[in-house]
Order: sequence, then C-alpha cells, then structure tokens
Amino acid sequence: MPLSSPTFLLQAILCIYFVLIPTFAKLQRFQHQPKHDGSLSFLVIGDWGRQGLYNQSLVATQMGIMGEKLNIDFVISTGDNFYDDGIKGVNDPIFQQSFSNIYTAKSLQKQWYSILGNHDYRGDTIAQVNPLLRKIDRRWFCMRAFTLNTGIAEFFFIDTTPFISDYFNQYEHTYDWRDVSPRSSYLSNILKDFEEALKKSSATWKIVVGHHAIRSISHHGDSIELIENLVPILKANGVDMYLNGHDHCLQHISSKDSPLVYITSGAGSKAWRGDIKENNFEEVKFFYDGQGFMSVQITVTETEFAFFDVFGDNIHHSRLQKTLHSSA
Ligand SMILES: *[C@@H]1O[C@H](CO)[C@@H](O)[C@H](O)[C@H]1NC(C)=O
Repeated sequence: MPLSSPTFLLQAILCIYFVLIPTFAKLQRFQHQPKHDGSLSFLVIGDWGRQGLYNQSLVATQMGIMGEKLNIDFVISTGDNFYDDGIKGVNDPIFQQSFSNIYTAKSLQKQWYSILGNHDYRGDTIAQVNPLLRKIDRRWFCMRAFTLNTGIAEFFFIDTTPFISDYFNQYEHTYDWRDVSPRSSYLSNILKDFEEALKKSSATWKIVVGHHAIRSISHHGDSIELIENLVPILKANGVDMYLNGHDHCLQHISSKDSPLVYITSGAGSKAWRGDIKENNFEEVKFFYDGQGFMSVQITVTETEFAFFDVFGDNIHHSRLQKTLHSSA
C-alpha cells in the first residue's frame, strides 16, 4: 500500500472535520516508504494528457523503460493532466484514454502524485481531485495541495493556478474556481499552511512541486506572482528544488543567491519547439524544447536528476550535493 492505511483513515476523519471548520484546514500529509536502503527514485512528467497524441505514447514508452531501470517508487505529475479542458466528471472517458491506457508499462504501475494545472481548471476540478477516480485507476492521486513525506525527502505540492492573475482577468476561457473562491483567503491560507509545513519538516531534502514555473525562458517566462509570494518562503526554508510544468519543455535553472534549483518537466506531449526567450543568463543550465521527462534519484548526500527525450536518450543530468556534518 503506497498510502499507509492509518494515515488514510485519519485523513478521512480529518476531511470531514475540515469540511465543517474550513478555517482550521491544514495541508494534508501523506507518507510513502522509501526503498529499504532509505533511497528514493521517481519520474516527473507534466503537461501530458492528449490520448497518446503528440508523442505522449512515445514518452510513456521511454518512461516505462527508465522506470524499470531505476526501480522507481512513484511518478510525479506537475499538472495539465488532461487537455484541453481537464475532465468533465469522474466518468469522463478521457481519464482512461489519456492516463490508464497510455502509461501501461509495468514499472509505471506505481502511485502517481498529481496536482492540477491551468488546463485542468478549465474542467471539473472537483472531479479530478475526487478519490472516486482511484476506483477506475488506483494509481491516481490528485489534490490541490498536500505534503508527501518519504523520510529522506519531503515533497510539498502547491496549487499555483489560483496565484496567476491572468486567469482572473480574461474571458477567453472559463475556470472552475469552486473551492478556491474567495481567492485572497485561499491564497493566504495556502501560503501560511505551506510555510508552516516547510518549517516543521526535518527531511534532508525539501522539494516543492507546482504547475507554473517560477523561472522559465520558454513561452510563459517567469511567474511574477510566484517570485513575489513563494520564492521568499522557499529560500527561507532551505528548499532544494522547485519542480514545475506549464512550459512545454525541459529546463534546469539555478539561483545566484541560494542552492535552490528550478526545474521544468512539462514535456509530456505537445512541445513548443522554438518558443524560447532571448537569454544569456548564466543560471540557465539546460533547455530543451522537445518532448521528454525527468528522473530523480535521491540519497542522503546526493540528488541526481536527468532529462530524457522521446528516444530515451539522456540529454542532461546534474547533481545536487549535501555535505554531511559529522556528528561523531
Ligand atoms: C515526435 O518526436 C520526434 C522526435 O523528437 C519529432 O521529430 C516529432 O516532430 C514529434 N512529433 C510531434 C507530433 O511532436
């Protein structure tokens, strides 16, 4: 069982409680056991659900091969799980057509931890985070915001779509803001809960997952809202990595004034070839505008991450290191 049952039961009880008293809502916490030696490996994919089209299936095949090789513990999805408009309800066949029927490799039959992207917000968000979907495919786990503790690393999943002002200032698309309105209290609560959870964490590695890029040299560029609201919290609490999708590419950007790295893995299907902003930042370590995915391997002293293209070729890899302060 990827989600330990007592925790799950407790969540269910807490859930009922929080429905009654929403102001006391805290981020829900989940646990996932690492490997026996305490290490962890997983894949990260974003912006993918297109019924296999735009090379989604090719990426899925390579994920299966890499998942096997690394004996992955789980998969993280950075959102925009179902194009173009999320899912229409818990019985929307798109769910199986774009998820269950695509990621069929044995190694991918693990827990998937997902958050919502802006395209998911164009559909029924309450359906997409509904645990009933687990009856259709038990791998599915999607919430607006939660934490996942693995011992060696703690993951903080944050709902970034409501932070982006553009979605509230345009009429081209409709967004499902149920459970998000009123926006200002939703955002301040989420930031507060988030900061509290980060402060409490004693994990060696702290990884934050959101849909929107904080730093990006692709189509959407940097997200001002996240730079203003999120970055100070990430830096003050020693976050090692911020993982996102949204821009349909793979990129690795470092920070000048902290160890925090910004990683985009949003290349799960349709890619935006050639959509790159003029840049000469030395922080940009890697950028690829084709399709692919990311692998991450974590030990106490090292986090190694790598990007792979549709052919399964390793197109970039890098390491983050921690020095162990000797306690003897
Ligand atoms: C699929 O991937 C190949 C190899 O990168 C690329 O040449 C092709 O254009 C991609 N197809 C689509 C629809 O993006």
